[in-house]
Amino acid sequence: MEKTAIYPGTFDPITYGHVDIIERASKIFDEVIIGVAKETYKECLFSLTERIELAREATKHLPNVIIESFTGLVVDYVRKRNSKVMIRGLRAVSDFEYELQIALANRTLSEEIETVFLIPQSKYLYLSSSLVKQIISTGGSIKEYVPETIREKMELKYKTKVKYELQEDCS
Ligand code: COA
Repeated sequence: MEKTAIYPGTFDPITYGHVDIIERASKIFDEVIIGVAKETYKECLFSLTERIELAREATKHLPNVIIESFTGLVVDYVRKRNSKVMIRGLRAVSDFEYELQIALANRTLSEEIETVFLIPQSKYLYLSSSLVKQIISTGGSIKEYVPETIREKMELKYKTKVKYELQEDCS
């Protein structure tokens, strides 16, 4: 039986939808490691350090969850952490094609690693980090989607940036 599972992602920022998946995983595995990707194809609002801090804050109630960064191929990272399980959240049907593609590509890269899909509560099925950023940047309320401390940090970020300006990279 696998004791450790890895949940990789960009987490820019972590939302209640991610936390829902992490809570579910933390009940199944002895240890869940959240791998915050250093390199990502997306433009990030938060730096790597900030994304890690926010993820730590949002999961501090879960003693068997560890947050760290990773770089390079996700399968190499899972192997390095002596795990064979990668967690991914599956929300609406629209996630399926993309997630299937990634899961099969990862299986080709590393046959022994399994992707385990977990489904969040229905109220988070259409939640994404981009949606939260979009709502807050136009002055809407995001209290249903992220913990209070993250909401405050996001508000501060948008206030100090004045304009909606993304960082050039995620590092
Ligand atoms: N609740 C809320 N939102 C969720 C969610 C959930 N349960 N599950 C996923 N999401 C959202 C995320 O917020 C994100 O939204 P955004 O696009 O608005 O930011 C989106 O779904 C998917 O993001 P994420 O889960 O971070 O995945 P990703 O597609 O950005 O991939 C890695 C991130 C790190 C897993 C991927 O880039 C990777 O594997 N990189 C390493 C390189 C590698 O190995 N490549 C080969 C893979 S085939």
